[in-house]
Amino acid sequence: MRIAVNTGGGDAPGLNAVLRAVVNAATVRGWDVYGVREGYNGFFRPGGVHPLTRDMVRGITPLGGTILGTVNRGNPFEFPRDGELVDISDEVVRKFYEHGFDAFIAVGGDGSFRIAKRFMDKGIPMVCVPKTIDNDVNGTHVTFGFDTAVATATDALDKLHSTAESHRRVMCVEVMGRYCGWIALHAGIAATADIILIPEIPFDIESVCAKVRRREAAGRQFAICVVAEGATPVGGGLTSTHETELGREIRLGGIAERVALEIAERTGKETRSLSLGHLLRGGHPTAYDRLLSLRYGAAAVRAVEQRKFGCMVSYQPPDMVFVPVETGISETKRVPLDCDTIRCAREMGICLGD
Ligand code: F6P
Repeated sequence: MRIAVNTGGGDAPGLNAVLRAVVNAATVRGWDVYGVREGYNGFFRPGGVHPLTRDMVRGITPLGGTILGTVNRGNPFEFPRDGELVDISDEVVRKFYEHGFDAFIAVGGDGSFRIAKRFMDKGIPMVCVPKTIDNDVNGTHVTFGFDTAVATATDALDKLHSTAESHRRVMCVEVMGRYCGWIALHAGIAATADIILIPEIPFDIESVCAKVRRREAAGRQFAICVVAEGATPVGGGLTSTHETELGREIRLGGIAERVALEIAERTGKETRSLSLGHLLRGGHPTAYDRLLSLRYGAAAVRAVEQRKFGCMVSYQPPDMVFVPVETGISETKRVPLDCDTIRCAREMGICLGD
């Protein structure tokens, strides 16, 4: 059995652990694994498809990033070439069979799964492994990388507390979370933030300012406000100060700054804003994410063995199971407004902007 594996979309701590698990689980079965570099681009580059041996993955479990590289612009069905989007998917299919591969393990988020699904429809036997720090893939309890991102964000928020307090400022901190507020919510509660704004709850800036004023009246001169990059004011749209490149999703950023300016104007408080951005995607995966990634990778090889092609590996504690990849792409897993974590946030007195 010859298995191809790639990593696509934004990176997440734990990708290397998945690759190691795939290689080790395949090797014990006497199978060979080949890495395709940078999504599907490796098929078209010299050295872009190469064997992944046990030696090559030794020691990579704690490393951030991905030894295969990744791209956000590698959709072979809409490939940017000479200023337009062209379909080069049949070339990928041809390359897959030229290399003599029997199965493809695609490690990615919902964008990568949509591409994988189209390759499945073209007959490629694929297994998908869900990855994203945003934790927004439907049909699995949690994606690897999320725990690490929350830990990093919590650490940063803890540090920002003392400077906010010393200067009596409102600190608005933007974290990743394009369509959902999992990172903002979990890190915000863990770091005892005062205000958490998530895409699932359009915020009313007046209720945010009211929280700042209430704190001030109670003698608390500072506040920490965590803002998911996809949070929007009531009636507002996505915030972006960036140009959108051909073949890419809109790049978000800037909402925390907007919130900080509004708070300053409406309350007279001094405010500062910063974005933790890609910091949350870097560094060593936590122990939880390492184990989760290793389990995802090993289960993907089990799926190949059981010929469960067309599936996504899904973590349904305590088990790894296989669900149709359609489950992963049917919808975005947003924070349910009636979940216990939201309830907890409210009971901690945190303002959620509504
Ligand atoms: O990994 C998902 C994500 O973190 C989103 O929250 C964010 O919008 C996006 O990646 C940004 O990725 P990039 O800057 O690599 O396009």
